[in-house]
Amino acid sequence: MRGAFVTGTDTGVGKTVVAAALVAALSARGLRVAPVKPVVTGLDEPDPERPLDHVLLGAAAGVPPERVTPLTFGPALSPHLAAELSGAAVEPAALVAAARAAAEGADVVIGEGAGGLLVPITRGYLIRDYALDLGLPLIVAARPGLGTINHTLLTIESARAAGLRVLGVVLTPWPAEPDAMQRSNRETIAALGEVEVATLRRAGVEVADLAGAGAALPLERWGLT
Ligand SMILES: Nc1ncnc2c1ncn2[C@@H]1O[C@H](COP(=O)(O)OP(=O)(O)OP(=O)(O)O)[C@@H](O)[C@H]1O
Ligand SMILES: [Mg+2]
Repeated sequence: MRGAFVTGTDTGVGKTVVAAALVAALSARGLRVAPVKPVVTGLDEPDPERPLDHVLLGAAAGVPPERVTPLTFGPALSPHLAAELSGAAVEPAALVAAARAAAEGADVVIGEGAGGLLVPITRGYLIRDYALDLGLPLIVAARPGLGTINHTLLTIESARAAGLRVLGVVLTPWPAEPDAMQRSNRETIAALGEVEVATLRRAGVEVADLAGAGAALPLERWGLT
């Protein structure tokens, strides 16, 4: 599968914004994009300002949300706990098969994890295992500000230890006028992580705005076009 898997240094760090910006920008170039996310939790507590992840990713690609995510849970919990509380038996192979089916006929796949890289989907199967099973290289969404160096380098180290290739880091949302610490964080992560560090400006949830923001990411260099 050609594409990338967007993980993050934490939950709520901007993975969906980065993934949706990639999906929208690639779709705007005429590519058929398959967004995939193994599981979405928190359907009981929707944010009135933002669509659910699979809804936004689907809208950005022009595909139905059910094609993006085969598994959803109501409580806003780690997937393994949401599944255990609901009594559902989660079969990792079925999640991978659903992603492969969604990717059929597509030019490029953009995945999104849930939470960070070591979040359990089941007690024996982490988001990192799912990324490995899809065979996609990683893009790490990270905050621009204080604390991001440690979180980002830990994520990169954990990815590489498992044999995942890291295409790059995206600091998000990147301000129009970054301060000295933010600029330093970008340089420091690039140097210590030996990785490209791109940035994503603030974008709304409209597909055109996401496409405009995503167009500034290094789509060619990351082999996505
Ligand atoms: N480039 C950006 N433009 C606008 N908002 C952003 C951007 N980057 C991060 N954010 C903010 O970060 C918050 C979380 O973003 P997002 O939903 O993408 O996180 P996530 O990592 O996908 O979370 P989850 O773990 O729930 O999937 C949003 O409410 C948004 O306001
Ligand atoms: Mg998300």
